[in-house]
Amino acid sequence: MAVLELLRCSLQWYGRRSIVSLSSLPETHQMLHKTCRDFAENELKPLAAKFDREHLYPKEQIRKMGELGLMAVDVPENLGGSGLDYLAYSIAMEEISRGCASTGVIMSVNNSLYLGPILKFGTEKQKETFIPPFAAGEQIGCFALSEPGNGSDAGAASTVARPSDDGWTLSGTKSWITNGYEAEASVVFATTDTSKKHKGISAFIVPKSATGLSLGKKEDKLGIRGSSTCSLIFEDCSIPKDNLLGEPGLGFKIAMMSLDAGRIGIASQALGIAQAALDCAVEYASKRNAFGSPILKLQTIQTKIANMALQIESARLLTWRAAALKDSGKPFSKEAAMAKLAASEAATYSAHQCIQVLGGMGYVTDMPAERHYRDARITEIYEGTSEIQRLVIASNIIKEYGYS
Ligand code: CAA
Repeated sequence: MAVLELLRCSLQWYGRRSIVSLSSLPETHQMLHKTCRDFAENELKPLAAKFDREHLYPKEQIRKMGELGLMAVDVPENLGGSGLDYLAYSIAMEEISRGCASTGVIMSVNNSLYLGPILKFGTEKQKETFIPPFAAGEQIGCFALSEPGNGSDAGAASTVARPSDDGWTLSGTKSWITNGYEAEASVVFATTDTSKKHKGISAFIVPKSATGLSLGKKEDKLGIRGSSTCSLIFEDCSIPKDNLLGEPGLGFKIAMMSLDAGRIGIASQALGIAQAALDCAVEYASKRNAFGSPILKLQTIQTKIANMALQIESARLLTWRAAALKDSGKPFSKEAAMAKLAASEAATYSAHQCIQVLGGMGYVTDMPAERHYRDARITEIYEGTSEIQRLVIASNIIKEYGYS
């Protein structure tokens, strides 16, 4: 905790510095980086293959991350968080994901998509009830927007919430919900006025214990298999009146704003996967001999390493820029979309090249390369596909040119 304490003190002056590389960040951000790297090296990396193989939720590790303040990085201390900034969150997310991408996404959804909207739009009572245990790593939360019939078109929600005598009754199914199996509460989006399309969507906080809420089957996924994904099924699910999050009809904006921040988290997760792939490729190439010397000496391998590093560094700068803009209260939707797009493409590219460097060894589970390849793929899909990121970027650029 001493590291986090120091980091808090430095926040007042880091904003005046330009971000060029990790070494140009305040010493305290570098210390957070080291703390997270050590944790990932010692507590995550040795177990990541097991979590993946056995579809194991890293319960003990999440609890320890709660103790380190990593499950609620930008949540104020009075609610049990670390009171840090989004740049710190990005740095921490990358390092955790470098050790284990499944643990990374569990952390990301809890921080950005569950705690984020409650912190921004919740009442004091909602914050007191639904934040502290989730900040401590004792419980985790999830975010329920997608449905079997709508993913990219988030405004077409068919789950409905009707007012009842003492609260709200929800009916419908939410799908592809990361953390869904373990989550003790979720931020759920449902239509309260079908005549108003996206303006009729509202947000709710639904505890797992709510009557009428059940879970669908746990999905068997290509990657990030230590994290759970399932449907949340609402059958006349009753929640109290007080569980409406924000104003009625504000749900779509809450979802979009949460996803803007979430995309910085996923960009950082993708950076961690990409970096792990680069680490793996360089280490292997330094030991594997061919044509009389380590393959690291071959230009063809060096070209791959250079291309991987270039994509990773470029994406990291975009991600830190998006985080710094958010921290300074400036608009960052376009920059977060750019960061997520670049970082997820860097992750799939680097994981692909890593396997190429390892050859046959990259294709078997004895080495982590194939897991990085599988883990990387989802970063181009969740929290908005690469196609949606391009759409967000283009619509912002068109606006900047004054054509909308
Ligand atoms: N912030 C605030 N408001 C925003 C906004 C933003 N970033 N983006 C849009 N809005 C507002 C607009 O200003 C507009 O407001 P008005 O009605 O007042 O004018 C309103 O929202 C509608 O905007 P659009 O017309 O642009 O909306 P659209 O229906 O065309 O959709 C979209 C835009 C970008 C495609 C959006 O639907 C989208 O982001 N889709 C992707 C959904 C997604 O990312 N899902 C991820 C699921 S969660 C997940 O994946 C978690 C996990 O597993 C890890």
